[in-house]
Amino acid sequence: MELCVALDLPSAEENLSLAESLKSYDIWMKVGFRSYIRDGKPFIEALKKINPDFKIFLDLKLYDIPNTMADAAEEIAKIGVDMFNIHASAGPVAMKTVMERLSAYKNRPLVLAVTALTSFDEENFQAIYEKSIDEKAEQFAKMSYENGLDGVVCSTFESRAIKEATSEKFLTLCPGIRPFGEDAGDQQRVATLELANQEGVDYPVVGRPIYKESNPQAKVEQILEVIAGF
Ligand code: C5P
Repeated sequence: MELCVALDLPSAEENLSLAESLKSYDIWMKVGFRSYIRDGKPFIEALKKINPDFKIFLDLKLYDIPNTMADAAEEIAKIGVDMFNIHASAGPVAMKTVMERLSAYKNRPLVLAVTALTSFDEENFQAIYEKSIDEKAEQFAKMSYENGLDGVVCSTFESRAIKEATSEKFLTLCPGIRPFGEDAGDQQRVATLELANQEGVDYPVVGRPIYKESNPQAKVEQILEVIAGF
């Protein structure tokens, strides 16, 4: 299990100062829409300057026609990030096209597919996808696995079933982690590190429970200690 810290602070300066305080740890940094649209590639470079070994997950959730997605995937590979994601509902042709195009890159980034956005409740999800979240998440995961992706973004509660339907090695990255049962905020289905470990989660994503702490460094240390004990 590898910790992924969500850099969701309101400015590049605040995110970089959080990264600076965490530079001695072997962790992933999640760069999202807001941050990337505002701060772009120089922000990624600034993170790498703080610690060249930080692993970067670019959370842009690509969704377009296959060729456009593959073009974007290539640009992402050129930036030198370590992981990015696409929407599984873009479908098998998009998945194949992206993976084929990336095969030309020696150290290609890992590619994950978003199964179901956690903001959906069952009713709204079914209105679009005509299946339950669990059922569709598993179907999307199988599709991603069969088309060569490395894993999926899902909730902790779907991680085990997805691994059973695909492979133990198929990666699961799960937001909504409250390492020691902290405040859930707006997340609906939260899980502790302990539960994430039981469910085979590879990358627990933690935002607020770290950056809202007065001492984020101490919090990360506590988390890493627990992970080391698994
Ligand atoms: O602060 P918190 O730990 O809830 O942050 C979770 C992070 O994971 C946020 O950046 C959020 O946008 C992201 N995320 C999520 N649910 C998804 C996909 C991404 O919470 N399905």
